[in-house]
Amino acid sequence: MAMESVIRTAIVTGGASGMGRATSLRFARDGHAVGVLDIDGKGAAEVADEINAAGGKAIALTADLGERGQIEAAVALTREALGPVTIVVNNAAVESFAPVAEVTDADWDQLMAVNLKGAFVLIQTVLDDMVAAGWGRVINVSAFGAQIGAPNMALYTASKGGVIAMTRSMAVELGRQGITVNSVSPGFIDTPMARRAIDGDLFPVPYEQIIASYPIPRLGKPEEIAAACAFFASEDAGYVTGQLLGVNGGTAF
Ligand SMILES: NC(=O)c1ccc[n+]([C@@H]2O[C@H](COP(=O)([O-])OP(=O)(O)OC[C@H]3O[C@@H](n4cnc5c(N)ncnc54)[C@H](O)[C@@H]3O)[C@@H](O)[C@H]2O)c1
Repeated sequence: MAMESVIRTAIVTGGASGMGRATSLRFARDGHAVGVLDIDGKGAAEVADEINAAGGKAIALTADLGERGQIEAAVALTREALGPVTIVVNNAAVESFAPVAEVTDADWDQLMAVNLKGAFVLIQTVLDDMVAAGWGRVINVSAFGAQIGAPNMALYTASKGGVIAMTRSMAVELGRQGITVNSVSPGFIDTPMARRAIDGDLFPVPYEQIIASYPIPRLGKPEEIAAACAFFASEDAGYVTGQLLGVNGGTAF
């Protein structure tokens, strides 16, 4: 029996590194064309090159998600090169470790502009394509810290809690147009972001101790997040919307 396989065009933000890189590579393997978007244009180009060299189809998009104009330009470029965009993974984010008392207005505004508003604006920008197709998949990457809380991470987790709430409301609003909106909530995943926190000694206890307390006592792999994104992006997930899938070794439920 032949498997159903429809080629779509996806944009993956933060595609140059960690989970975004793994998701871009996974989507390409699944047959999708991929716009690899990142503020790190060189890193995005490396991932796009890797996909194209393996016989897939990808372009690199250099954009700062804090800037609406750059998001709109990246989407326009993707449409021109790869066709209408019907899958979006809002994965890029910046981290912040600071006690509540030390977070400045500027810190708040800059982080929210990327982690929350950037995701919102990208969805707004591709919406016409999804509505026209009567089919769309939005996958927003949140964080387990937004579910369980984390010291010195109130700003970051506020942005990720916003991502979870936005996911639910958009799912309710857009379902009738054939668009599903879901969130993947990663636990502690072995990426450059996690390594920066480990190397910077930013946790209250050694990270080995944190991991040892998990039901599955290890760091997660970027590919395990990519697999969850691939499911939400698939035809099989057509009746799944508004969901929050924790990929976290059992850390948060
Ligand atoms: N690693 C973890 O343990 C962990 C845990 C929970 C949630 N997350 C979330 O998972 C997602 C992926 O994280 P990761 O660990 O792969 O991080 P990462 O730092 O390895 O990759 C993030 C990518 O986003 C890009 N980026 C940052 N700011 C940008 C901007 N303004 N415009 C465009 N691109 C920008 C970076 O250049 C980088 O390539 C993030 O949303 C993160 O908050 C990570």
